[in-house]
Amino acid sequence: MDQRDAFLQSFKPAVDLFLEHAKKGSSIRVVTHNDADGLSSGGIMGVAAYRADACFKVSSEKKLDERLVNALREENPALVVFTDFGSGYLNIIAETLRQPVIVLDHHICKDAEAPNVVHVNPMLHGIDGARDIAASGISYLFAKATDPRNVDLSCLALVGALGDQQDKGDRKSLAGLNTVIEEDAVKAGLLEKHVGLIFYGYETRPVPKAIAYTTTPYIPGLSGNEGNCVAFLKQIGIELGKERPRALADLSEDEKRTLFSALSSHMVSTGCDPSSVHQLIGTIYTFRLEDPGTALRSGREYASLLNACGRMGRAGVGLSICLGDRGEAMVEAQLTLDEYRRRIGSALDLVQTEGMVQELDHIYVIRAGDQIDDTVIGVVSGILLGQGILKNTKPIVATALSDDGQVKVSARGTEELVARGLHMGRVMQAAAEALGGGGGGHDVAAGAYIPVDKEEEFIAKVNGLVPEQHAE
Ligand code: C5P
Repeated sequence: MDQRDAFLQSFKPAVDLFLEHAKKGSSIRVVTHNDADGLSSGGIMGVAAYRADACFKVSSEKKLDERLVNALREENPALVVFTDFGSGYLNIIAETLRQPVIVLDHHICKDAEAPNVVHVNPMLHGIDGARDIAASGISYLFAKATDPRNVDLSCLALVGALGDQQDKGDRKSLAGLNTVIEEDAVKAGLLEKHVGLIFYGYETRPVPKAIAYTTTPYIPGLSGNEGNCVAFLKQIGIELGKERPRALADLSEDEKRTLFSALSSHMVSTGCDPSSVHQLIGTIYTFRLEDPGTALRSGREYASLLNACGRMGRAGVGLSICLGDRGEAMVEAQLTLDEYRRRIGSALDLVQTEGMVQELDHIYVIRAGDQIDDTVIGVVSGILLGQGILKNTKPIVATALSDDGQVKVSARGTEELVARGLHMGRVMQAAAEALGGGGGGHDVAAGAYIPVDKEEEFIAKVNGLVPEQHAE
């Protein structure tokens, strides 16, 4: 049996357990992570539970820790389902919860005896959880196994993968098992793909806005600054539109070429790594049943909207959208996204103007304290590393004060470092656990929570662990 078959077969005990509880009418409690992948997973599980006539509740959380598991113990549902977290915290789950638990996750696993846990994770079958399938994809395959009607959730599964930046294939396309889900979506008439300039709001936003709203790649002077984008476009002779502002989709192929080459020269002349220019072009995922002109029509915009909701404390709004709300929730989500982008923009300005990035032997460090919100510190670190402004190829580790009094750590590596053996998830797990915290994640993006007085010791430990990994 190959790895894929073994992974697909591993769903059966979880699906049986879920359907058995649904049939009995006993309570099913779904708890999911609050980022785009987590929220789309929660939405998929919600629809699957509804269609199975289950008695269920879905909610989302920033992290899985003792506090959350203790609250679930108090609540005492018949079945607990964790999506997009759990694998790294099997010890806490098994120690605290007595009822059966299903974990659908794609992060690194914790070695622990957990007899009450039915654990579904592609990493247990040699499948890459950071690139080949996200938690939303796992939730989708699970949902499809409970009811073939759930094929209509395939686009939502792709939203989670895009939110987790799994578009690492050729021309920023999804790869691995994600393509199997893509095929389902295309076959069901739900998805269309094409390659083009990737900007936020490709079809819907005026061009200067589309460029200003784009942060991956981060274009110095243009990202976050619409006025500069207007001036830039005028300078290269691109008409902005008279009666109706023109969107990127309205530009001719010649104009798109001119724009691409002007942006490339601008990025290189402002210090970006030449390879980051390729991030301007990629595969565009269009959801055919969503209304044209709405963010949900585009896979990446959908993911940004959910990420913003989750990170800005409006996860409920994001979940409602995943469950089908296209009314009030959309207005709230859009406002939340605008605020989220402003917050990222000011954090990036602050880091750069204050020179907050420190270079150690093996890592870059940002100690943000209470100057940058812990909800955006991870995104900010990813942008800094991705835009190529940090000259040496080293991972970045950023810390910020969390509202629960701990220090939140976000760590990001590059694909090149990962190919040389780096695994930031393992580094975070080992360093945090040694200092009384918890950590985990993926090879390329990971995180941790640590006690406030252990910050310096943690950074020193991480700086020591990174070169050991390259040597492996
Ligand atoms: O929060 P941030 O975006 O930096 O997290 C990066 C990745 O690390 C996410 O996939 C998150 O689920 C994971 N993580 C984890 N354990 C933590 C913190 C983050 O597995 N304590």
